[in-house]
Amino acid sequence: MQGSHDNASRPLGSETHTSQPRTSQTRVSPGKAETADYTPASLACGARRVVASRSLDEKTHVAHATARAWFGRSLSLRLRTGSERMPDQPGRPDTPILLPPRDMPKRAVGGTSGRIALLHSIAHIELNAVDLTWDMVGRFADRQLPRSFFDDWVRVGLEEAKHFSLLRRRLEDLDSHYGALPAHHGLWEAAESTGDDLAGRLAVIPLVLEARGLDITPPMIDKARERGDPETAAILEIIYRDEKRHVAFGAKWFRYLCDKERCDPERRFQDLVRRHFKGGLKPPFNDRARSEAGLTPGFYRPLARLIG
Ligand SMILES: [Fe+2]
Ligand SMILES: [Fe+2]
Repeated sequence: MQGSHDNASRPLGSETHTSQPRTSQTRVSPGKAETADYTPASLACGARRVVASRSLDEKTHVAHATARAWFGRSLSLRLRTGSERMPDQPGRPDTPILLPPRDMPKRAVGGTSGRIALLHSIAHIELNAVDLTWDMVGRFADRQLPRSFFDDWVRVGLEEAKHFSLLRRRLEDLDSHYGALPAHHGLWEAAESTGDDLAGRLAVIPLVLEARGLDITPPMIDKARERGDPETAAILEIIYRDEKRHVAFGAKWFRYLCDKERCDPERRFQDLVRRHFKGGLKPPFNDRARSEAGLTPGFYRPLARLIG
């Protein structure tokens, strides 16, 4: 156990650590400098701080620091005091303005403004993926699960932070930034409706939303190349490769839970998606990439017929 407690509401730098005392006294806005030597008191504490952080730099740096400590095997899963309750809502900066999906302005298409609008919307999805993944790590840290479950999802949480950082930097290369445009706040709904249902969380996040990424990313990569934007295409390729693994982890752990509960994974998946996911499963599906990740058509095809 690393420390006595961890309080997400206090500013960074005010925590007490028994194993790694802070050496940097630089007082700047919370972010890179503040989190350079951050070590959470437990994996669940680090996960909570990632989700609670309002500063984007702080969020991504705490994700890195927590992953580093976890894989360095210097971190317990959670504290015995159980003081790691996850926040109901993720911490977010003042911008972008968050709007209900129906109030979102029509996105610019074509030219640099279209390119920025697309990158901004993907960056927003990736930021939500950071929060959703770390929320799952922290929220389910008290369950009887193999340590490899947390290894897999900490890796995913780190990769989501990398995706967000790559897109954020690309926006800055184009003289824009994350926060310059409005974004929608519908994505956190999935976390709220599956707050105490791990199978539901796996069904909706990796196996519906991230699997959807496998369907739509290859055409986006082609389009970016056609439009003479190899930098964006290269970032999307990294995201596509990583997301395939995220879906594979989702399928693996979903099957694990179904095995434990002695239920049919395909039927269970369909029940959970109907209960927790409001949108339809829209074809066309990238059957090949989905199958390679372990998400075979028997899972999602019946839902496309019923909902789509
Ligand atoms: Fe991602
Ligand atoms: Fe992902």
